[in-house]
Amino acid sequence: MARHLITSALPYINGIKHLGNMVGSMLPADVYGRYMRQRGHDVLYICATDEHGTPAELAAKDAGQSVDAFCAEQHDAQKAIYDGFHLQFDHFGRSSSQQNVELTQHFARKLHENGFIEERAIRQVFSIADDRFLPDRYIVGTCPHCGYDKARGDQCENCTRVLDPTDLIDARSAISGSSDLEVRETKHLFLLQSKLQGEVEQWIDASSEEWPTLASSIARKWLTEGLHDRAITRDLDWGVPVPADVWPELAAEGKVFYVWFDAPIEYIASTKEWADADPAGRDWKSWWYEADDVRYTEFMAKDNVPFHSVMFPATELGTREPWKKVDFLKAFNWLTYYGGKFSTSQKRGIFTDAALELLPADYWRYFLMANAPESDDTSFTWELFSSSVNKDLADTLGNFVNRVLSFSRKRFGDEVPAGAAAGEAERKLGEQIAELLAEYEGHMEALQFRKAAAALRALWSAGNSYLEEKAPWLEIKTDQEAAALTLRTAMNLIRLYAIVSEPFIPAAAKAMRGAFALDGDTAAWVTADEARALASVPAGTAFTVPPVLFAKITEDDLESYRERFGAAE
Ligand code: 2FM
Ligand code: ZN
Repeated sequence: MARHLITSALPYINGIKHLGNMVGSMLPADVYGRYMRQRGHDVLYICATDEHGTPAELAAKDAGQSVDAFCAEQHDAQKAIYDGFHLQFDHFGRSSSQQNVELTQHFARKLHENGFIEERAIRQVFSIADDRFLPDRYIVGTCPHCGYDKARGDQCENCTRVLDPTDLIDARSAISGSSDLEVRETKHLFLLQSKLQGEVEQWIDASSEEWPTLASSIARKWLTEGLHDRAITRDLDWGVPVPADVWPELAAEGKVFYVWFDAPIEYIASTKEWADADPAGRDWKSWWYEADDVRYTEFMAKDNVPFHSVMFPATELGTREPWKKVDFLKAFNWLTYYGGKFSTSQKRGIFTDAALELLPADYWRYFLMANAPESDDTSFTWELFSSSVNKDLADTLGNFVNRVLSFSRKRFGDEVPAGAAAGEAERKLGEQIAELLAEYEGHMEALQFRKAAAALRALWSAGNSYLEEKAPWLEIKTDQEAAALTLRTAMNLIRLYAIVSEPFIPAAAKAMRGAFALDGDTAAWVTADEARALASVPAGTAFTVPPVLFAKITEDDLESYRERFGAAE
């Protein structure tokens, strides 16, 4: 048993997230976390809402609420949806927590003591019309690198380059749209990342070997371009205040830390929030500080990689304290909607609340992970979604479960029938299942979710092939004992599916497990021997037939989805 710390990129507080956000961070983290728990590891899965910065301020303004009230409400709204998706966070915190204020200030103090923070006067964009400075997303314009005309002041969504507001061409205010802007001088804190370049490089050399290429190549690209010193404070009303004991002048001016400085620290602070709820039983520090026995895996979409592979580790290294750094960084490409961008601002694509109104979480969880944008972008289409649901979930798995249990009950009653002893067909099946299980485990350990889903599908298919070959509905006419053996074996497969499918489709897994009255059911993982024997549900075990696990998506459903969400635009 090992200790596994898992975090998924913190969703911004500025509104309900879409399926693209889900598949690139929280969902795979949950699938992996569930699997590792089932394998008996000590797992801590931490996430939180990312509540500071211009996105929060702008969204609160749009909603006509104070930032405070807006964040509290949106946090609860997001949390309810993630519960609906069956995400098993150990804690889903808030980056505006007191714990994060304290830890962020601690990090800044340490970086300052070690000579990695410097106060500099800089020239910043000031909007005459809005009578304020325009940091980050408060300013939009054309990206100097790729020409995208809706680039934000902090990052270009199109080419993922990190920007400075003064880099933008044809800049305008995101508040008023005014281009009546001037550049004024103001003081800010700078993190001297350039001084940490060598150390970060060494750390990446030593740590990134097993990261997916997507993550390591982005990290390398950043190193090659050179680490630049970056402003880590902003002129905003909402954020972690600059500590007055260290920087009295900036504190008096009301400066706060930049959202990307405090957000990753919230991974630690959220763990502290978790521990503070039960101080006697939980120890946050053992997960983060001198935590050499912990394996730390982070999940995120590719635009987040620079911050997690280079900047946050640089921040941690600069404290000269033994903070836990990421061991495995799992990055994802984009999920597109019919080839175009999912967009929060343009309300394009499927949002997580709407998804759950349409269909239960398992349908989405399975589809998204089976088609996860791992090696390339994935295009969501309703056609792909419905064929995946209908073929894999409804036909291959759901139908198998229902057919086997209903038929057995009809012919043999409410207990698993005894029948003949296992023969050659069962021996072959057992071998095949054990092999596929090992394949599935290998892909899960390697965090290769598409491949893992394919192996899971192959496990389900193997049951179907066995059933077709043995045809108990024919066997029963001539040999009751043979039919009973087939059904007993198939029921053992259902029990195995219940356990191994849990990371992907936890609700269906629960229904499958619940079909059998087995004592002490803690659903321990299946060993290779158990997979080969297919005998953990003995004859005589009482069972019930669960309701249909997955309904098929009909042509009419498809039509209405396409109409409601807009397709092929
Ligand atoms: O890109 C985003 O959605 C950010 N809110 C992710 C933050 S991850 C972390 F570092 F906190
Ligand atoms: Zn760009």
